[in-house]
Amino acid sequence: MDWKIRTSDRDVERISTRGNRFLVGNGYLGIRGTLEEYRKEQLPAVNLAGIFDQVGDSWREPLNAPNGLYTYVKVDGEAYGLPGQEPLEHEMVLDYRNALFSRKTSWKTGRGVVTVISERFASRAEVHLIGMKYTVTADFHADVELYTGIDGNVWEINGPHYRQMEAQVLENRAEITAITQEKGDTVTVMEAVCADFPHGSEGSWRNKEALHKYEFVTEPGRAYQIRKGIVVFTSKDAGWSKERAGQVLEEFSDSGYEAEKQKHRQAWEEKWRYGQVLVEGDDQAMEALNYSLYHLLSIAPAHAKSMSIPARGLSGQTYKGAVFWDTEMFMLDYFLFTDPAVARTLMKYRVDTLGGAKQKAAQYGWEGAYYAWESQEGGYDACTDYNVVDVFTGRPMRTFFRDKQYHISAAIVYGIMRYSHITGDDSLLKEGGLETVIECARFYYSLLLKRAGGTRYEIHDVIGPDEYHERVNNNAYTNRMAKYTFQMAVELLTGLDRFGDRVKESIEQQYRVPKLLEQFEDAAEHLYVPAPDEQGIIEQFDGYGNLEDVFVDQVRSRLLHEKEYWGGAYGVASQTKVIKQADVVTMLNLFSDEYPEDICLKNWKYYEPRTEHGSSLSACMYAMLACKCGMPREAYPFFVKSARADLNDGGKEWAGLIYIGGTHPAASGGAYMTAVEGFGGVSFTEGKLKVKPQLPENWKRMKFHICCGGKRYAVDIRPEETTVEEVEE
Ligand code: BGC
Repeated sequence: MDWKIRTSDRDVERISTRGNRFLVGNGYLGIRGTLEEYRKEQLPAVNLAGIFDQVGDSWREPLNAPNGLYTYVKVDGEAYGLPGQEPLEHEMVLDYRNALFSRKTSWKTGRGVVTVISERFASRAEVHLIGMKYTVTADFHADVELYTGIDGNVWEINGPHYRQMEAQVLENRAEITAITQEKGDTVTVMEAVCADFPHGSEGSWRNKEALHKYEFVTEPGRAYQIRKGIVVFTSKDAGWSKERAGQVLEEFSDSGYEAEKQKHRQAWEEKWRYGQVLVEGDDQAMEALNYSLYHLLSIAPAHAKSMSIPARGLSGQTYKGAVFWDTEMFMLDYFLFTDPAVARTLMKYRVDTLGGAKQKAAQYGWEGAYYAWESQEGGYDACTDYNVVDVFTGRPMRTFFRDKQYHISAAIVYGIMRYSHITGDDSLLKEGGLETVIECARFYYSLLLKRAGGTRYEIHDVIGPDEYHERVNNNAYTNRMAKYTFQMAVELLTGLDRFGDRVKESIEQQYRVPKLLEQFEDAAEHLYVPAPDEQGIIEQFDGYGNLEDVFVDQVRSRLLHEKEYWGGAYGVASQTKVIKQADVVTMLNLFSDEYPEDICLKNWKYYEPRTEHGSSLSACMYAMLACKCGMPREAYPFFVKSARADLNDGGKEWAGLIYIGGTHPAASGGAYMTAVEGFGGVSFTEGKLKVKPQLPENWKRMKFHICCGGKRYAVDIRPEETTVEEVEE
């Protein structure tokens, strides 16, 4: 395994849409793996974390910065690039061990062959810095004009987000400051170019392009290289200014591209030291798994203290750059077990956005905290009431994701509690986590219904993980997660002493603790969670059993349009048992110790042929439950599907007429969980790390590190023995 993926596909459209696959990122920004000459039509993006803009009534989405990588070449007066000129050769490589993107393309001109080679990295050592080098070679005396600069014509889904741009072009230096529409935020991109060969040069600012032109005549076979340092910062970045960016560029010019690249590589090696998972006997699985981990590491906000990861990472504006339950339920474990500081940052974001969640609850007439289904900064819910476009009428369809996916608040509780259980660190709970859990429990308490004369509580009118069936009653997953929330709130409220007097007093001042305890204990005890029927099947929601019993292919054959939405009022799946993604299976996975193995297995077998796996979140849940049922062989294809979510073509890119393509970090996290917790059999309960492996047949050995209870362990699984050794850091 060489930790590289490559392609020689020269199809312009595929290079554009597969920009996700070759992405480099550092948590602050993500650069889609497209070509330097690409204009906005070919979807290049330097996507920024945590800064958003809204234009009129369109969707609020994250910003793409002006593109500082923009570079193209003219030979004998003619532009050479893709699209435009058919190349002789073309190759793109992502070295994901070192997070380096490179390309090599040659063209035949009227007088000979000209070749362009480039390389780029989004520095892990200094997250505001992008390094790039670009080399032109010709086998004849070519008249070359090399243009490089910053392209202010950015690709945007719901733009234009910049109402104004100011630029400056000096010798070997350029900068653009772009001002956003909604709040007047600024995004500044500055670059320094180093061209150490004789050339004529000229700068210009035209059509939103800040460009330098370097002119020279090539000696046959000689390489002409420019190196660029690009700094990106926004008005939201405390401590950043043009002066500071100028210093970073100065250092870049002094120490040089290679020195910065070296620092970047070292920083990545540090991440891989504890972040990689080694598998012997199955190179393809190891490659797909570590490629997934690469994506998680590329978008981890390691530079921040309170920030989360959007559902499509930093691969563009899809899904509005918003944070979903994907983070807590699918990605969190990787960071918990390898880099708990990042896990804390992710959960601190939720604690710090409690205000937004309380507002949302109040808006719907509930109490406590109802977290945003699509969370942007401050916990603002970017999910609209019309989140899908009908392919037949072109009209927006009323969806209820924002109103009714109540299970989101429980995901936050799950994340906070899992952080505290696995790390043993109470600081997050003390710094607002306690209030967060209590407020989520208050939210669920306000949702509870009891029939006149009845004894049990129910929760009605919800959407569970399976989004194709809207507004159902007693979704097993939602009810069980609400019950879990009550249980956690009770655990915390009965154990307040452990947090010290100050915290205890503060909670007691804010809440009537005995009353809350009484309510939550009662709710935890009496909330109805659908039990297995005579056949052992847990009904996904009330009345699910009466729906038309068909399998996925039958439903698919009824589609009138390939992009048609399967759910909603008239969707092909809505009146059938076909579901979008793991739902009961997700619940069983989380609470498998409460159900006999044969119940888990029966439900796995029942729901799998009825699951479309229309979300990349689905496969890993089936993989993990299969492992819990002792079926690593059955788990394996689902594991591969998760791990290859960003390597394979054919993923779902449309929900109705809305583009949802991009990277799939939840699937990446799911692949990790399946490998380490499923096949590796890692668990951490009651302060004890347990490793009970059941590797797929061809896996001869598996090695990884696990952080828990404040310690780090090296785990080595071999057929003859499994060793777990504490690592001194
Ligand atoms: C899934 C959700 C998920 C979202 C973002 C949707 O298609 O149904 O469960 O949170 O995508 O990944």
